[in-house]
Amino acid sequence: MITDLDLKKAAEKVISYAYSPYSNVSVAAAVLTKNGNVYTGVNIENSSYGLTVCAERNAIASAISAGEKDFTRMTIVTNSKMVNSPCGSCRQVIFEFNNNMPIEFFGPDGYHRSFNSAELLPEGFEL
Ligand code: THU
Repeated sequence: MITDLDLKKAAEKVISYAYSPYSNVSVAAAVLTKNGNVYTGVNIENSSYGLTVCAERNAIASAISAGEKDFTRMTIVTNSKMVNSPCGSCRQVIFEFNNNMPIEFFGPDGYHRSFNSAELLPEGFEL
C-alpha cells in the first residue's frame, strides 16, 4: 500500500533533479497509478522560456510512457513560496486523465494544500 507520505517522499527524492537555472524554482511531482506504481517528474526549463515543462506534466508523461494512465493521486513539492498550486496547463493535463483526483501540494515553511482536480479546473474541457 502506497501512502500519501510515500508519494511525498518519492517527490522529495527527485526534486534536486529539477532543471530550473532561469527561475531557480524547483518542483517535483509524484503520481500513483491504480496498479500501485509511482512515477515522478521535475520541472525542466529552457533558454526559450516558453518551452519549460512543469513537474506535474513530466510525471504524467513518465507514467504514460511506461504504459500507465490510470492515476489515483498526485503529490507535488516545491522549494518556492511563489508556487502555491498547479498551473493552468497542468490542471488541464491532469483533468484529462482523472477529473476527480486528490492532489496534495507542499511548499516551504509548512505550506500544505489539498486539492482535487475537479476543483482546480471548474467546468473543465473534455471531448
Ligand atoms: N512549475 C511547475 O513545475 N509546476 C507548477 O505547478 C508551477 C510552476 C515550474 C515551471 C517553472 O520551471 C517554475 O516552476 C517557475 O514557474
